[in-house]
Amino acid sequence: MKNQIAPSMMCTDILKLKETIEVFEKNDIDYLHIDVMDGKFVPNYCLGTDYCKRLKKASKIPLDIHLMISEPENKIHYFEFSQGDYVSVHSESTNHLQRTLNFIKAKGAKAMVAFNPATDIACLKYVGDIIDGVLIMTVNPGYAGQPLVESCIKKITEVREFLDKNGFKHVEIEVDGNVSFENAKRMKQAGANIFVAGNSSIFRSDLTIEEGIHKLREAIQ
Ligand code: DX5
Ligand code: ZN
Repeated sequence: MKNQIAPSMMCTDILKLKETIEVFEKNDIDYLHIDVMDGKFVPNYCLGTDYCKRLKKASKIPLDIHLMISEPENKIHYFEFSQGDYVSVHSESTNHLQRTLNFIKAKGAKAMVAFNPATDIACLKYVGDIIDGVLIMTVNPGYAGQPLVESCIKKITEVREFLDKNGFKHVEIEVDGNVSFENAKRMKQAGANIFVAGNSSIFRSDLTIEEGIHKLREAIQ
């Protein structure tokens, strides 16, 4: 599976967004990871429907919309997404996970189920057949700069083994949170292939974004 980088857009300098996107396009970035937070499912507000729409117009890079919202089944139609985009729904956020993932597929986009650190992956038995990806939170969600939850590394391997054993080899694994250069190596070895790049890697103060991208790419080879 191709190793892919998805910059966490909540970590970008909003005043330099246009040039940041140009750096992403120049460096073949795979997805723009958009953390949507409603202050209820996670203890923070962040990025919304207009931001997603505007970003879609501003760049050809596919979106990777991470819905950290309650009742996504009632709000997902506020968002614009299409073929090539990923949309992730937290298994903990809805009583209608299968229906919401189906909604994403019906719009031609790629469906991803997301798990917080303490959530078991058992539901994969019943949605493995309709998803394109699994998002494993490797920190407690809501803010950039959080520490890695160590037990999530083992969880990456558990998910990879489950998917491979049950005929879902094509399903990708995205990791999100404290994906530092060192952690990214471990996450890759554990089975991840899409890496959310935030303050721990490409938005560090001691590197340019481009240097961070190159370093992260090296770490996940
Ligand atoms: C956390 C966010 C992550 C975060 C990544 O809730 O989903 O995308 O911004 O940033 P770092 O690398 O600082 O964890
Ligand atoms: Zn995220």
